Amino acid sequence: MNNLSFTLPKAELHLHIEGTLEPELMFKLAQRNNINLPFSSVEEARKAYQFTNLQSFLNIYYQGANVLQTQQDFYDLTYAYLTKVSEQNVRHTEIFFDPQTHTDRGISFETVINGIYNALETGKKELNITSKIILCFLRHLSEKKAFETFEKALLFRDKIIGIGLDSSEVGNPPSKFKNVFDQARKAGFLTVAHAGEEGSPEYIWEAINLLKVSRIDHGVRCLEDAKLVKYLRETQLPLTVCPLSNLKLKVFNTMKDHNLKKLLELGLCVTVNSDDPAYFGGYIGENFQTIQEELLLTDEQMYQLAKNSFQASFLSQEEKEKLLKI
Ligand code: ADE
Ligand code: ZN
Repeated sequence: MNNLSFTLPKAELHLHIEGTLEPELMFKLAQRNNINLPFSSVEEARKAYQFTNLQSFLNIYYQGANVLQTQQDFYDLTYAYLTKVSEQNVRHTEIFFDPQTHTDRGISFETVINGIYNALETGKKELNITSKIILCFLRHLSEKKAFETFEKALLFRDKIIGIGLDSSEVGNPPSKFKNVFDQARKAGFLTVAHAGEEGSPEYIWEAINLLKVSRIDHGVRCLEDAKLVKYLRETQLPLTVCPLSNLKLKVFNTMKDHNLKKLLELGLCVTVNSDDPAYFGGYIGENFQTIQEELLLTDEQMYQLAKNSFQASFLSQEEKEKLLKI
């Protein structure tokens, strides 16, 4: 085990809480809530996690979320994630949740956010991990549905720092959500968006110019556009890169082909994150470890990545400085 990957103090900035549902907890919640699963065992579930692209993953991921029914379920899910990453020296985390995945099945927005929020509060006290919550709109659904979700978010304004955009990227460009993101920024939310995971660099430009994002989630396809790379270097607009996710969803064929080291060497503000660790074979520590081993990152580059994770966070300048001194 490479200790630096697990011992460096770090922040995680790209993490879908629904993607932390380990098969063991999925089975426990299925039993608790009387829900049938399409797998006969934990092992069978893990074996099914073989993906060919983003959509093949999303189909299984949305199905898994069906076991989440009560506030306690969302609490247990979130607290299990915090416990896991506290062992990897995560000091701050900014987590995504997908309310539409739950409200469309009759689970109330309140149930979801309160379960997540309460667990994060306990995590602050018991594990010394600070946190923020980012609400993501599902981009395969309509703008109208996003507006309905946004109305609910306004009722929990104090618990949500930002608005994001996830789910099936190609065919659902950021421009589809320009109006609702305009409203979100007016209401004081920060914005982020998944862009350039499978979608073209044009999607990254749209996220920047139309959604006015503070970070790009993934963004690895930026290298196809020299002007975009120059813009990202000059502005230091952060990219939240997820190496194991990219490997599992075949964005890159092997980890040695991953462009993270190149992005770093070009001077971009790159961060390392786990995306959906229960499905992609590792948490943030394993993501750091695999890139150090496969891309032969120097210890200085590892420190830079950890430093970037705090710099790119939505913490205040004062909070960042405190964490950067550790
Ligand atoms: N939802 C969960 N993980 C995602 C990813 N990697 N891309 C888009 N939507 C997601
Ligand atoms: Zn993601």
